[in-house]
Amino acid sequence: MDKSVIYATRELPGLVEWAKHNGQFQVEFNKEDRNLTYDELNEVAKASDALITVLSDNIDKSFLENNQHLQGISNYAVGFNNIDMDEAKRLGIPIGNTPDVLTEATAETALLLQLMMARKIKRAMSAVRDGNWTAWEPTVFNGYDLQESTVGIIGFGRIGQSFAQKMWQLYKCNIVIWPRESAKRAECNFPFRVVEKEEFFQLVDVVSMHCPKTPETENLINSEFIAKMKKPFFFINTARGDCHNENDLLLGLREEKVLGVGLDVTNPEPMSRKSPLLKEENCVVFPHIGSATKKTREQMTLMCLENILASLKRSPLPYSVYDPFKV
Ligand code: GLV
Ligand code: GLV
Repeated sequence: MDKSVIYATRELPGLVEWAKHNGQFQVEFNKEDRNLTYDELNEVAKASDALITVLSDNIDKSFLENNQHLQGISNYAVGFNNIDMDEAKRLGIPIGNTPDVLTEATAETALLLQLMMARKIKRAMSAVRDGNWTAWEPTVFNGYDLQESTVGIIGFGRIGQSFAQKMWQLYKCNIVIWPRESAKRAECNFPFRVVEKEEFFQLVDVVSMHCPKTPETENLINSEFIAKMKKPFFFINTARGDCHNENDLLLGLREEKVLGVGLDVTNPEPMSRKSPLLKEENCVVFPHIGSATKKTREQMTLMCLENILASLKRSPLPYSVYDPFKV
């Protein structure tokens, strides 16, 4: 019998090692240091039985229609907004993802952005690099205290809960959640309150996004949102760049309605190096590194492979977004 072909659209940590020990499968991957184009993606899919995709791969309706032979796709991410789920369901193609393992790393990334903004680290490091550190400064780099500030979490899933817990443990922050639906399954060992939109606007000092991209969350943080916020606030996004409007954030910073912008995700990605946000002293941008620790990324590879092996056997996926084999 021919070996099943598993194709990964990028080289993933631990993939080659796994392939060495699992010779019953033919494991292929994109050996170039870049994402595949849509046409290339179609071409490799034709020769494969199952795919491991990354979040920049556009697995849309026509891709799925043209590749109905695929026995499974596992996204190397917790988010799956790059995949047309309705079409995958219609065609019965199982879809997997990598939840949980990246929760800590991503929440830590949000914390890092918050700390860098609060302590004006971009400005401080630039001063050292540019030769502007000429004396010990009593006034220049003074930042904000986070103690007992109010953190507003949009998207209270695993990652939102983990970030909230860190802010509560470290700074006794008040945690408020909006919208209500995202707090449905929350069981937390720290206090939080679910509030209505108006109260959120009144109370919050830090807005942190942890929601998926949906029609409700797309472009949610825009000039209208910023205008409604009562206090100047820090904005953190480690979820999806589509949920914020970068021009509006820039205006917010300039008008001092926004104290700092901390982004691990941008709109579009990659962010243009000409983005005016990059010139703002209190805007910190990371290149979508939320899950980027060695251990997390290796675990994500193994989870994708477990998903793919299950889908090839037509048995339930251990980490599924859509699973036609679930009983
Ligand atoms: C990263 O953005 C992910 O969804 O895992
Ligand atoms: C969403 O899946 C999360 O982990 O917050």
